[in-house]
Amino acid sequence: MNHQDRLEALTDLLRPWSELWSRSILQNWPESGAAYLESWLPYAESLDEEGERRLDDGELPGEPPRSLHSLVLALRELTALPWHEGVRRLTTADAQGLNAKKAHEIERVLALLGPRTQTIRQAVDIGGGMGHLARLCVRTFDWTFHSIDRDAALQEKGRDWLRRARTLPREKLCFIHSSVEDGPQREIDPLFSGQDRVSIGLHTCGSLALTQIRKSQQAGLLLNFGCCYDQMDAARDYPVSRFGKAHGLPITRRALFLATRGRHHKTEAEFALMKRVNQQRFALDLLLRRKFPALGFVRAGDAPKKLYAESFAAYARDRLERLRLDVGMTDAELNSFESSARAETRRIFLCHLLRDRFARALEIVILLDRALLLEEMGFQVELLQVFEPRLSPRNIALIASRAEPSANIRIAPAQQPLRI
Ligand SMILES: C[S@@+](CC[C@H](N)C(=O)[O-])C[C@H]1O[C@@H](n2cnc3c(N)ncnc32)[C@H](O)[C@@H]1O
Repeated sequence: MNHQDRLEALTDLLRPWSELWSRSILQNWPESGAAYLESWLPYAESLDEEGERRLDDGELPGEPPRSLHSLVLALRELTALPWHEGVRRLTTADAQGLNAKKAHEIERVLALLGPRTQTIRQAVDIGGGMGHLARLCVRTFDWTFHSIDRDAALQEKGRDWLRRARTLPREKLCFIHSSVEDGPQREIDPLFSGQDRVSIGLHTCGSLALTQIRKSQQAGLLLNFGCCYDQMDAARDYPVSRFGKAHGLPITRRALFLATRGRHHKTEAEFALMKRVNQQRFALDLLLRRKFPALGFVRAGDAPKKLYAESFAAYARDRLERLRLDVGMTDAELNSFESSARAETRRIFLCHLLRDRFARALEIVILLDRALLLEEMGFQVELLQVFEPRLSPRNIALIASRAEPSANIRIAPAQQPLRI
């Protein structure tokens, strides 16, 4: 399926459900719960703990309502992007200092780049951090490499690693301390241009991916992994492609946040912790509504992790103190409130499990829009799943290479930086 067809099919599928994925459940409770089809909640409520976990994992155990079943199947089909399979194993020496996630990512990115970079001699990494990927690209491909990051402390650590890599041609890797921004930046812009250059962004937060795309219009190859979509500006950063604009969705800040939540295969302990955190947070919300209705929705913030495992009273006292609110209740009364609210907090939790079904689809809508923008610039674009989601959930690579100009297709406009 090409990117346009996939985006059109996904937006058609998602649009009728925008009430569910574009709004916060908790902030709009209980009206938000009413947006879920009548049969969905009783189905979710019929699940035991294992069933809830399977629902969280994208399965529909037992006998799901037909509307939910067909929606989840359609979402699954349209979000099934092809996989990149290759791995380029790092030696023990090269993997030193890398955690399991980073080693996993780099081994796959090197394998992905290998066959696509025959004509590449130079590389730039936007948000390159400590430069682990840069160092290992220099080792593997012998490129000249510029790693740009706005965090000088990270880059200093990267220089330490570089000093330790004795057999590496160190002069080939240069750290540049700079904040990459939209608009002209004379010192760094030339690093993104040239048929022999690859522009890399491994987990560029929010709209930094778009900045990379805009700067790399003259690059031979672009590789980007997006992340932290909630840091995008919903009005400015989506949609960005012409095709996306003609098939736009009402993406809100809430929807962007949901797009960062596509994550499968939680362990039993991870799922139990998530459930507990939610239970405590939802009970506090119901308590605050009852005691201080005039306040409206109150942001409670994150409590220290260990507090979630304690009684509701311990968690609530910590939050109430931070919010400078006095509910005038003893610990026993707080705990008894939580028990009495448990059926309702479970319903809120189950709505979240159902809403999370849309997370991956929203992420892919954002990435397809970026892919189509690159196609409109004259690139040939692939979207591939590359990392094991358990280790690295933002696992989709956007790979753009210059389309071969055919005899009767002119792509000259791509030589003119597109104004977007
Ligand atoms: C999620 S981290 C990824 C780091 C690295 N690519 C990796 O995979 O380990 C994002 C990095 O981008 C850097 N960054 C964020 N915005 C930036 C900007 N506008 N210009 C330069 N660096 C930026 C941050 O300092 C951070 O190191």
